[in-house]
Amino acid sequence: MSQLTRFGVSIEDELLAKFDELIAGRGYENRSEALRDLIRKALVEAQVDKTKNDVEVVGSLTFVYDHHAHDLMQQMAEVQHDHHDLVVSVIHVHIDHHNCLETAMLRGKASRVRALADSILKLKGVKHGNLFITLPADAIEGRRRASQEHHHPAVEP
Ligand code: NI
Repeated sequence: MSQLTRFGVSIEDELLAKFDELIAGRGYENRSEALRDLIRKALVEAQVDKTKNDVEVVGSLTFVYDHHAHDLMQQMAEVQHDHHDLVVSVIHVHIDHHNCLETAMLRGKASRVRALADSILKLKGVKHGNLFITLPADAIEGRRRASQEHHHPAVEP
């Protein structure tokens, strides 16, 4: 473990009270661990944000939509078929009589994954959704590993 540094933070009482309430609800035992996690999250997000458009990313797009909305199902299918090389898998859940929740696992160039997400989220009838993209763990950690270190052993018959 690297060396720990202590530092002071000036913060409004009210803001700190809200933060304490938030982290208690998430099960953190102290502010330090909560703050470290927030910093890590911000660093990963910043790295993903500046990912060049031609870098290969993996991610998931989750969205909720009303399957009764006019033409939506057809438009959704067309968009996904137009980008079939990016869509690895789709999970569909019928939430209630009207609403569906769908998660599409995506893999491809960052620019194309973002464009696909935009074209689905902007469809009329899609109520709410979010794209999560990330880089291979080695890239986030700033390390390079030989690709053969990650392999799935063959199953013996
Ligand atoms: Ni459904």
